[in-house]
Parts: sequence; C-alpha cells; structure tokens
Amino acid sequence: MDNSHRLSFTYLSQEDLIESGCFDISLAILTAEKTLLAYEEDSILFPEKTVQIFDHASQDRINCLPATLLDEKICGLKWVSVFPRNPKLHDLQNLSAIFVLSEIEKGFPIAVMEGTLASNMRVGAMGAIAAKHLARADSEVIGLIGAGEQAKMHMLAMKSVRPGLKQCRVASKAPQEEQQFIEELAPLFPDMEFVAADTHSRRAMDGADILVTATSAQAPLLHAEWMKPGAFYSHIGGWEDEYEVALQCDKIVCDDWETVTHRTQTLSRMYKEGLISGSNIHANLHELVSGHKPGRESADERTYFNAVGLAYIDVAIGLSLYHRAKAAGAGQELDLQHCMIFEHADIIKHVKL
Ligand SMILES: NC(=O)c1ccc[n+]([C@@H]2O[C@H](COP(=O)([O-])OP(=O)(O)OC[C@H]3O[C@@H](n4cnc5c(N)ncnc54)[C@H](O)[C@@H]3O)[C@@H](O)[C@H]2O)c1
Repeated sequence: MDNSHRLSFTYLSQEDLIESGCFDISLAILTAEKTLLAYEEDSILFPEKTVQIFDHASQDRINCLPATLLDEKICGLKWVSVFPRNPKLHDLQNLSAIFVLSEIEKGFPIAVMEGTLASNMRVGAMGAIAAKHLARADSEVIGLIGAGEQAKMHMLAMKSVRPGLKQCRVASKAPQEEQQFIEELAPLFPDMEFVAADTHSRRAMDGADILVTATSAQAPLLHAEWMKPGAFYSHIGGWEDEYEVALQCDKIVCDDWETVTHRTQTLSRMYKEGLISGSNIHANLHELVSGHKPGRESADERTYFNAVGLAYIDVAIGLSLYHRAKAAGAGQELDLQHCMIFEHADIIKHVKL
C-alpha cells in the first residue's frame, strides 16, 4: 500500500508520562515562566474556552480549552471534565483531562495524551511562580484547606520554590483525607513536619506564611483574621475566602484579571458585586515574571494570588511533557489513517448510500 498519506500520532498515557520522568515540577515552572513571557511578546493565540454545564447545582461540566504557541508552531486543546460530586457519589476523582497537540505547518495531530497530570502540574506551577514573587523568602509554614489533587500538587510546587518550608498543616472535610495527604506527601519531605488539622480550617491557616485553599466548596472558608501580615495566599478553587481577605491584601495578582471577571471565584463575585475593579489588581502574573511590575516589596505585605487557569500554559506544559516522553521512547505510535479515503483498496465496496 502507498503510505504517502499515512497520518500517525503519539499516544501517551499518564503512566507513560510518569515513567518517562515527566512528573517534574521544575520543568512545569520553567515552561510556564517562558510561556508567560511569550504571551507578553504576542506569540500566543488564546481564544475563550467553551463551557458545557450539565447540572447547574453540581456544576458538572466539560470544558474545551484551545491555545496556540506560535513560536513552537503548536496548536493544542485541553478537553477537561469537572464533576465535583464524583468523590462523594462514586469515590472517583473530580477532574479528568485529555490533550490533543497538532503541528501548524501542515495542521496534523502529533499527540493525544492524558491531561490531568499536565493540568494539575500547571496549577501548582502557577502558584509556585506567584509564590516566588509574592511569598516571603523566609516562609516556613504552609497551611492548606483542601487535601485533594490540587492541594497535593500545590504542596510540591511551593516546596520547590520555598525550600525553607518546615511545617505543613492541612485541613479538609474529612480527617481520613488529611491523613491520606500526609501519608502520600510526608515521605517526600523528611525535613518537614506534617500536621492534620482534624477538619478545623483555623488550625491549618492561622498564622501560616503561605496559605492555600484548594477545595470544591463554595463558601468563605478562609477568614481574614487568620492571614497575618507578610503572608501569601494562593486561591485555587471557587468561592473559598471571606471578601475581607482580598480587601485587606496589599497586592492582588491574577493569572489573567480579565478572565477572572467572567468566572465565579471569590474575586469574580466581588467584581460582579462592585466591591473591586481592575484598579484593585496589582498585576497579571506575566508582569511579575517579566519584571514590568514589582512582586513583594516589604516584609509585612499581605499578598493574594488567584488563578483561573490559562489554556496556553496547559498546552505549553503538555508540549514539554510530550518532548520529554518522546525523548525517553515512551508512548505508542497510532495510525489515524493509512491513506486518504478513496485511496483504500476496494473502498467502493464499503460505501453505503
Ligand atoms: N484555578 C485553577 O486553575 C484550577 C484548576 C483545576 C481545578 N481547580 C479547582 O480546584 C478545586 C479543587 O480541585 P481538586 O481536583 O483538588 O478536587 P478534589 O476533589 O481532589 O479535592 C477537593 C478538596 O476540597 C475539600 N473540601 C470540600 N469542601 C470543603 C469544606 N467545606 N471545608 C474544607 N475542605 C473542603 C475536600 O475535602 C477535598 O479535600 C476545585 O474547585 C477545582 O474546580 C482550579
């Protein structure tokens, strides 16, 4: 058979990615920083995501997030499902994702890959980049509300940029989740003390240097009085903090403020209620990375970072993982087609009218 019209792509499972060394937080951070700078250079296409919500009460949804990295000549798509009731109803994860990457010289797909790893690494990497610029260098205590996938990834990412962290306190809805968080992460960090807060958010957060909320709740879980001067807060989920938290902060930084105004997180709610506007936002994260705006300027500043998720960072991290996995010989080559439709032998026999 003439294979001149053969199209194939690489399929990478989560196991392929992990076994080929892709679970590399530093790689995700470096890739995200480079891509934030590319955004400033107008080298990114970043259309609005498409959201399909199947149940408004539970917010069960599948989102389609495309982006193009013009310098790398790659167009990608993250197809991500968020089903917040999965853990409770089915004992299954909330989030699952698949990535498609295509080259843009001929427009053909090059990869289909598991996307939860890249997506969760992106969330952690963006929080870590914010921490690099906004958290005190001498931070020792991290407090988390939420003990799920994002909380774990954030813990890894924060430690990679603030290696002086000595204590991690974690609160969630269930003590067994806090225990699981500790069992999974403590072996990685023998220099740290892990403390389960037994579902008491205050115990986890009060007086911490770095505060993280990563929950599926829609409630003001983090109280302003628990955030001491000099603390840095990374907000990941939906509505998770009292409005006073943001109001008392000296600097609020977003991954993309314009996008935040269209979403449903705490800052989005405050914007819609007229409590904050663009003038209250110190910067988007790329401005800190490029040095166009300052990060932390004094020891006592309270700083707030809110990420809603940028598809071009997902695609860039997905591409970095693809390159690393390919270099390690991981994955499977799958054929999309051997030839064009009418080139198949006996194609006429297969046509149904
Ligand atoms: N900002 C982003 O870019 C981004 C990206 C991915 C996910 N998210 C969001 O992050 C959040 C967490 O995602 P995940 O994958 O870690 O979910 P998960 O289901 O793995 O974990 C959720 C955690 O929230 C805790 N929780 C829920 N209600 C709580 C309450 N009232 N008090 C204390 N803890 C509570 C649960 O106990 C659990 O530990 C979700 O809202 C998700 O939509 C944000």
